[in-house]
Amino acid sequence: MVDKQNWLDRWNQNRIGFHESAVNRYLRQYLPEFGLASGACVFLPLCGKALDIAWVAQQGYEVIGVELSQLAIEAFFEEQQLDFEHYDSDRFGVYQSERIRLLQGDFFDLSAADLASCKLVYDRAALIAMDHRDRRSYCDHMLSIIPAASDMLLISFEYDQAQMLGPPFSVPADEVYRYYSKAFSINLLETNDIIDERPRWRDVGLTALRESVFRCDS
Ligand SMILES: C[S@@+](CC[C@H](N)C(=O)[O-])C[C@H]1O[C@@H](n2cnc3c(N)ncnc32)[C@H](O)[C@@H]1O
Repeated sequence: MVDKQNWLDRWNQNRIGFHESAVNRYLRQYLPEFGLASGACVFLPLCGKALDIAWVAQQGYEVIGVELSQLAIEAFFEEQQLDFEHYDSDRFGVYQSERIRLLQGDFFDLSAADLASCKLVYDRAALIAMDHRDRRSYCDHMLSIIPAASDMLLISFEYDQAQMLGPPFSVPADEVYRYYSKAFSINLLETNDIIDERPRWRDVGLTALRESVFRCDS
């Protein structure tokens, strides 16, 4: 496992190349296709301070996110200029604004009760933050905490793992099917070669990088 301190150090040292400066294009494109009812709850695992959190809430949905870094969560609320209440529960620091509830702590400490109202999981850079030894437990834990009727929008990366250590790690499509097909009907919506759009990955040694978007229906 990439240890927790490593992630906290990345935040403390502002080494957050994974953070996108705009709302994710696949989220914008595909979220409406799930036809969620107004007020439905969307879960963002390992949410960082993604702009996606605020955008999902602006679409009229409730958001639950989980994130290890207190710094990331506080930066999110500050950058979005959102007021929040903060208190500690037994397992998490809870940051609550009108439509957004961010839980500061470990994804693996979440229980089904925490996500009882979840209708959709939006996984961007969460599964691919797990190394190959932890991915099965991540997916098993995900399936044990989300309601059986939840769907998922999942974005993953694929590259030659020999060219870079990660994170992000390469997650071959067959792993997505292996871990999730017992719970979901999975459709690969699109796969794009993105190495030309992301020169920094060439600089660290990658010769090819593919981004795939999966729709997982319960
Ligand atoms: C690659 S970043 C992705 C962040 C976000 N999804 C985004 O799109 O910007 C992974 C995030 O997961 C957090 N993280 C790593 N392991 C975690 C865990 N076990 N529980 C909660 N958060 C975790 C890290 O602090 C980091 O912010």
